[in-house]
Amino acid sequence: MRMVDVIEKKRDGHALSAEEIEFFVQGYSKGDIPDYQASALAMTIFFQDMNDEERGELTRQMVLSGQEIDLSEIDGIKVDKHSTGGVGDTTTLVLAPLVASVGVPVAKMSGRGLGHTGGTLDKLESFEGFNIELDQQSFIDCVNRDKVAVIGQSGDLTPADKKLYALRDVTATVNSIPLIASSIMSKKIASGAERIVLDVKVGKGAFMKDIESASELAKAMVSIGQHIGRTTEAVISDMNQPLGYAIGNALEVKEAIDTLTGNGPEDLTELVLELGSRMVVLGEKASTIEEAREMLIEAIESKKALETFKTFIKNQGGNPSQVDNPTTLPTAQYQIDVPAESSGYITELIANELGVASMHLGAGRATKDDVIDLAVGIVLHKKIGDQVEAGESIATIHANQQDVEAVKEKVLNAVKINDERIEYPLIHKVIT
Ligand code: URA
Ligand code: CA
Repeated sequence: MRMVDVIEKKRDGHALSAEEIEFFVQGYSKGDIPDYQASALAMTIFFQDMNDEERGELTRQMVLSGQEIDLSEIDGIKVDKHSTGGVGDTTTLVLAPLVASVGVPVAKMSGRGLGHTGGTLDKLESFEGFNIELDQQSFIDCVNRDKVAVIGQSGDLTPADKKLYALRDVTATVNSIPLIASSIMSKKIASGAERIVLDVKVGKGAFMKDIESASELAKAMVSIGQHIGRTTEAVISDMNQPLGYAIGNALEVKEAIDTLTGNGPEDLTELVLELGSRMVVLGEKASTIEEAREMLIEAIESKKALETFKTFIKNQGGNPSQVDNPTTLPTAQYQIDVPAESSGYITELIANELGVASMHLGAGRATKDDVIDLAVGIVLHKKIGDQVEAGESIATIHANQQDVEAVKEKVLNAVKINDERIEYPLIHKVIT
């Protein structure tokens, strides 16, 4: 087989065979196919698309290019959740102990990653002593005993995707549905998920800006799951503004604790119940979404979810008393309010700009060697649709530096205040 023929076939709009996709993915992963041919193929896929079979095969081959995590020693159905990425997204911190507390095993491999705030691992390190490096056996034992453990990614998962993603990044081929969908799904499948709940974000702070493209991405991933035999559901949720109020690592941990005690922000609580009840049904711990939702609400009210969170923190070397005393979590030296410049209704809270503002305070990483400050970030006091008076605080900046004028300006730039009230629904659509 010759790579030039594979490129030509796709260029002319024909579907590639399973053998051709295998030839490309394995050849590129091993270094037998050069970057220039891989980028030509990525560009033809960008323009010619792929059908469901091709997308499924592409995903399967990316999984096969590396290690696959074996979670078979863990009892029960392993259901994982994945978000396509937003600002101040505290969902995993709440979901993991919550669904674990009703018996769904959560064996999560998480990343640190780059971005506005740290990843789930960074956030968890807000607890004194928390250890993300459990050996394989302790990881499995923790999940079998207490249903939840979260560790750092180890092993060489989907090397073909890593290489192709880096190439797409510099060849203007990131924004292609078959390429994004196979990239995300291959990582989930390689990390051992048997069933998957996706949170596809849509809006100004998300990768997908409109419902149509978000639906298309969601359908593509659900269909790949079907093709590979891993049942997948997708919830399309709003990211026109940050989720919850907190943006920052320890700040989001505090928000997660509030949510686990039933005192969390309305939107975060609702999203967690929506995603969580789907996970509980897929994990076969309830037969209907309504029943699952009741179980989750009960777990919050009875403090069972909070107890599971404490056990999880303790199992991984963390100090569980910090869950009861969140004031002992990393706290910034300065709290500076940002007053509204006019009166009216909040109509915009541009998530990306608030994320960038948090990053300026030190909450996130620009390069992988940056050290993040767990204490800093931004806590909003208003969300879109809320009324505000001029001079009233719309947000508090938590900083370890005294001069936050530049950050203040960024926050003000992210906020629009208007006479007419608007609102966005939280859940736009569910695709199963
Ligand atoms: N996230 C991924 O993991 N892959 C993509 O291709 C795009 C976003
Ligand atoms: Ca948040």
